[in-house]
Amino acid sequence: MPWSERQRSMLERMGLRVWARGAVAAPSQAMPPERQPAPLKVRPAPTSAPTPVPIRPAVSAVVPAPAPVVAVAASASAAGAVSTLDWPALQQVVAGCRACGLCESRTRTVFGVGHPQAHWLVVGEAPGAEEDRQGEPFVGAAGQLLDRMLAALDLSRADDGARPAARSVYIANTLKCRPPGNRNPTPDELARCEPYLARQIDLLQPRIVLAMGRFAVQSLLRSDEAIGKLRGRVHAYQGVPLVVTYHPAYLLRNPADKAKAWDDLCLAADLAERGPR
Ligand code: URA
Repeated sequence: MPWSERQRSMLERMGLRVWARGAVAAPSQAMPPERQPAPLKVRPAPTSAPTPVPIRPAVSAVVPAPAPVVAVAASASAAGAVSTLDWPALQQVVAGCRACGLCESRTRTVFGVGHPQAHWLVVGEAPGAEEDRQGEPFVGAAGQLLDRMLAALDLSRADDGARPAARSVYIANTLKCRPPGNRNPTPDELARCEPYLARQIDLLQPRIVLAMGRFAVQSLLRSDEAIGKLRGRVHAYQGVPLVVTYHPAYLLRNPADKAKAWDDLCLAADLAERGPR
């Protein structure tokens, strides 16, 4: 979507960088030195699938979540179990998942949405109340902000057959079920859900991953560092460039950081345009 002169001058007046497809500036022109993308191997991808766990069949009784060390020890078989599934099979397994206690309180699982070959993957935290009701990620206020930011780059989650993969975004969460009361995910829940996201990334083969918020970062980068420390440079997940940014729910509470999030999106857009798939 080309910017009109009016939009362009408005963005510039807001101090926001105007991103134009096909006019990808060299990093040194595009951003200040501390924001320049490092070579993609700056932060190597985790080599082993992180803490996968067995997926219990839907009929099994809910057992108390084991200590994380048990989850880690039991992980290989779960990763193996999902690592060959195609999209429909993966979606079916997620829909019946009873790998952790969240299955007891969810209304429905929230698998993900978007073009199955989208160049962009956006990863959030976990479904909230509205997502739990509708079965789609980011449909509340945070999602509306996310959609507006993506639309500013001519990107959309809409998978209507008309939109090319290059202008499409797939949106998924680290957790596929809502934690009651929107509490933070536990390490065990993150570990048990992780093989699903890993398989989604495998199937999607995105050009760029945008990790929003600390739980997406913990899952994908194995890092507890603050978002403010990780954003503004290029990481990688399994060889795919990954950009860290603030979660849109955080941006709703801290609108002053929207300009930084916009910079992060521009960096991600540059990388998506640049990289071979
Ligand atoms: N926040 C998230 O991280 N994911 C959603 O799906 C909704 C809100």
